[in-house]
Amino acid sequence: MALFLLLLLLLSVRGSPSQEMQCPSLRTAALSFSVASSRNQTGHRIAQVMLKHGAQTEADSGAWQIDVDQNTVICDGVESVNIVATVTAPPTRPGPDYELFPGLGYYKLHTTPRTWEEAWRSCAFEGGHLAIVNSETEARVLQMMFARNPKIVGSTQNDYAFLGAHDMFSEGQFTTIFAGDPLNKTGYWNWAKGQPSKNTSSNCVIFHRMEATYYDKPCTWKLAAFCEQELY
Ligand SMILES: *[C@@H]1O[C@H](CO)[C@@H](O)[C@H](O)[C@H]1NC(C)=O
Ligand SMILES: *[C@@H]1O[C@H](CO)[C@@H](O)[C@H](O)[C@H]1NC(C)=O
Ligand SMILES: *[C@@H]1O[C@H](CO)[C@@H](O)[C@H](O)[C@H]1NC(C)=O
Repeated sequence: MALFLLLLLLLSVRGSPSQEMQCPSLRTAALSFSVASSRNQTGHRIAQVMLKHGAQTEADSGAWQIDVDQNTVICDGVESVNIVATVTAPPTRPGPDYELFPGLGYYKLHTTPRTWEEAWRSCAFEGGHLAIVNSETEARVLQMMFARNPKIVGSTQNDYAFLGAHDMFSEGQFTTIFAGDPLNKTGYWNWAKGQPSKNTSSNCVIFHRMEATYYDKPCTWKLAAFCEQELY
């Protein structure tokens, strides 16, 4: 006896709005996926795969590409329908003057000296965040970008740039700007010799241009800052 598996693939995408569907309340660039399976009153089995995305038309840098492949396989009298939907979303458009490093993200070195808090806001305003280094490769990228800007006019310390990490809440407990994730879980933390200091007025992590090392320095210093935007 053949088992009929009916898969309805419903894709809510720009350009093909379905009237029965409500507008999904999704954040920009969010993707939600669900699978439901039931039998209707005549015993037919109905499976639904729903995929919704939250791209914002004007902020989005291109159309979503959707390919649906379907095939039917019969093995030992059992028929199954395979549907593979491949959705390729374009990368979100980065903030102004962000540079793409494939596999890593978008980066920008702000060369107007700012306090850590001001720098935090500048990055957020551009849709990014103060950079968090997760690998040696990423550290080299920041170092290379810093090298292109040998002079940071008006900086408290020309060789330093703020990163997205601090120990403001508890001396010596360094965390990233994300929900208190420990700095030592990021995959790269390269303290300079004698760092971090035990100085309670030095609470923000900086990146040293030549050494690619970390120091903790006063958040009120006015320094260059690295912003980062993730590749989603
Ligand atoms: C159950 O689904 C099948 C296949 O779509 C359909 O032919 C049938 O009419 C449905 N039965 C009810 C009661 O909706
Ligand atoms: C990682 O950092 C946390 C918070 O600063 C600290 O409690 C913990 O001991 C550190 N772990 C290691 C292995 O350094
Ligand atoms: C702590 O850092 C501040 C700012 O750099 C500096 O003025 C002060 O002397 C430091 N204190 C100690 C004990 O090193």
